[in-house]
Amino acid sequence: MDMTAPVGTNVLDAPHGIVGQPMDRVDGPLKVTGAAKYAYEMRDGAKAAYGYVVIAPIGKGRITAIDDSAARAAPGVLLILTHQNAPTQGTGDHQHAAPQLTGPEITHYGQPVALVVAEQFEQARAAAYLLKIDTATEPGAYDLAAAAATAKTPQPMQKMAADTSVGDFSHAFASAPVSIDVTYTTPAQTHAMMEPHATLARWDGTHLTLHTANQFLTQSRTAVAKTLQIPEANIRLISPFIGGGFGGKLWVAADAILAALAARALSRPVKVALTRQQMFHVTTRRSDTIQRVRIATDADGHITAIGHDVLSDNLPSEPGFENSATQTRTLYAGANRETRHRLAALDLPVASSMRAPGEASGMLALECAMDELAEKLGMDPIELRVRNEPARDPEQDIPYSARHLIPCLREGAARFGWHRRKPQPGAVRDGSWLIGMGVAAATRATPLMPSKCTITLTPDGIAIVRMAMTDIGTGSYTVFTQIAAEMLGMAPGNIRMQLGDSNFPDAAGSGGSFGAASAGSALFDACMKLRAQLAEKAGMPPDQAVFADATIRAGNRSEPLATLVGANGLEAAGSIEPGDLATKFSQQSYGAHFVEVGVDSDTGEVRIRRMLGVFTAGRILNAKTARSQAIGGMVFGVGAALEEALQLDTRIGYFVNRDLAEYHVPVHADIPEIDAIFLPELDPTTNPLKSKGIGELGICGAGAAVANAVYNACGVRVRDYPLTLDKILPGLPVQN
Ligand code: MOS
Repeated sequence: MDMTAPVGTNVLDAPHGIVGQPMDRVDGPLKVTGAAKYAYEMRDGAKAAYGYVVIAPIGKGRITAIDDSAARAAPGVLLILTHQNAPTQGTGDHQHAAPQLTGPEITHYGQPVALVVAEQFEQARAAAYLLKIDTATEPGAYDLAAAAATAKTPQPMQKMAADTSVGDFSHAFASAPVSIDVTYTTPAQTHAMMEPHATLARWDGTHLTLHTANQFLTQSRTAVAKTLQIPEANIRLISPFIGGGFGGKLWVAADAILAALAARALSRPVKVALTRQQMFHVTTRRSDTIQRVRIATDADGHITAIGHDVLSDNLPSEPGFENSATQTRTLYAGANRETRHRLAALDLPVASSMRAPGEASGMLALECAMDELAEKLGMDPIELRVRNEPARDPEQDIPYSARHLIPCLREGAARFGWHRRKPQPGAVRDGSWLIGMGVAAATRATPLMPSKCTITLTPDGIAIVRMAMTDIGTGSYTVFTQIAAEMLGMAPGNIRMQLGDSNFPDAAGSGGSFGAASAGSALFDACMKLRAQLAEKAGMPPDQAVFADATIRAGNRSEPLATLVGANGLEAAGSIEPGDLATKFSQQSYGAHFVEVGVDSDTGEVRIRRMLGVFTAGRILNAKTARSQAIGGMVFGVGAALEEALQLDTRIGYFVNRDLAEYHVPVHADIPEIDAIFLPELDPTTNPLKSKGIGELGICGAGAAVANAVYNACGVRVRDYPLTLDKILPGLPVQN
């Protein structure tokens, strides 16, 4: 099916269905007992050899000599791969190919320059330290601010233009009675998922199997085929469980290609995992940004001009930019608008998708700028947002599909006790703590991607669902089980959800807040087709057949499903294609973040005290996993606001902090009280589930609400993330 017309009433609209219930994760017992196997734990065929990646120790330059004699003679060593013996591979940007060891050039610190393979991991690692690689350093560009003057207008990303313009921004901004012109900076960040990138590669003649931690199996199979220059049909990616991705496992990384090259050379399975430290440079990151936000209003706070200029960086060979102005194109009203993205070339690891690319960093700027504007207007920041609620998408000039930002703001304000907030910063104290509240809007695009699915009903009453979809820890297995159980009237325990194999029907994969919507819609389509087949076999009109208790029923007739399927079972295939509704309606998820913080008046230390997110995202498929995802996003918003930053040494071009002790993400002690709720909503324009994306909604705006609360607490406006105490302390009033 495709989305060319809004969906009407359908089987998921039944009032007490399984879909939406807070069902426990079906894979929970496997995970807590250790039975869920991850890539590096896999075994496939003969005993695997172990590869250890050797990375470039300079930011830019060349390899001038390699002496592998000592490493080669070390115990257990089977193979040393370098650019001198690696085969020719296909090339492309990082989304389309991942060639390794292609030549002596070093484009960034941490680029893999060798793979040492041995019988044991420890032998490979020990030999790697015996490898002598001489390099010649060349000057590199590592500093975004310094490179600003050389930045260029990037090519569009998919359909996303670098620049947009409506009306006459410059004139409207210059002539407005009230305006702000503020520049925010956000640092480079890394995904920091729990499971390091890992692959077990096995060749069977000309066929390659990769057990690999990867979010996008269908797309990554294409990238592996292009890189290794072999047919896609000869490649299988298997990834049943993934220990977090956050965008860092969307694309094929060095571990997969190096393992494949070594396994082919040795005619033996090879395992390669990146170390925690290597992940920081070998894989992708979020770009740092410099963002200028300009907003002007009339005397009553109606926006007349809104502009957002974003500077980000990437390797010279990579076209992708951090699209931080995305939400500014659609979130608020205003007749005159201008957004621009510029891209500087830096010799740093590839910048790519990470946790809501675009909005996550963009809303750290926009939603604080709105707070600054509200203060300048002497207006409550919620009222400013309500006043600038657009009737239609202001840049695309199309209607919104379902937009409930104001109800989220109002409901959140009531639940959080927003009326107790004092507009004057520094007005509330609790001992030595200065207490403040902050608010920010949340929004995130909700795309639909092509996806396919098969479902097979067996004679013993089991439904087997197959798709090359992944579960990166978000609950995919569970929400799809709920959809199939409800649509077929079967017990969830009789649904076998089989994901994580590229041999299954091509699927959207987990990313971009489109996974559940896209793969779930393909499953919906497959279930509808299976229902039609079952109704036909039962001799019942499909539109009158009721599926419940593993039977099909119409009028006073009822048949057990298992008796209808025959000896070989019954199979149906489903698919979803995006239609033109995505261009006829402006489709986003929405929400509002509320945060209360304390700022220590002596030290500038910030502590979250309470946090609430209120969201609307169409039909919620599982109340528990949705809430968990929202909370996870909000926690990462706290990280962006207060903690997370890759500390770049701009002399050498490397990140100094490379483990979870030094790259700080929030821990339990940082997050004392947090809640997320979803208000009821259905969006018939998005997909047959009437759902919207939730994977990345929670992070969008969350950090800005923290920063706004910090300002309200102590009156210090830090525009350089993260808000560490060294930036806050100088602005605090001197205590006596
Ligand atoms: Mo996401 S940043 O598309 O995993």
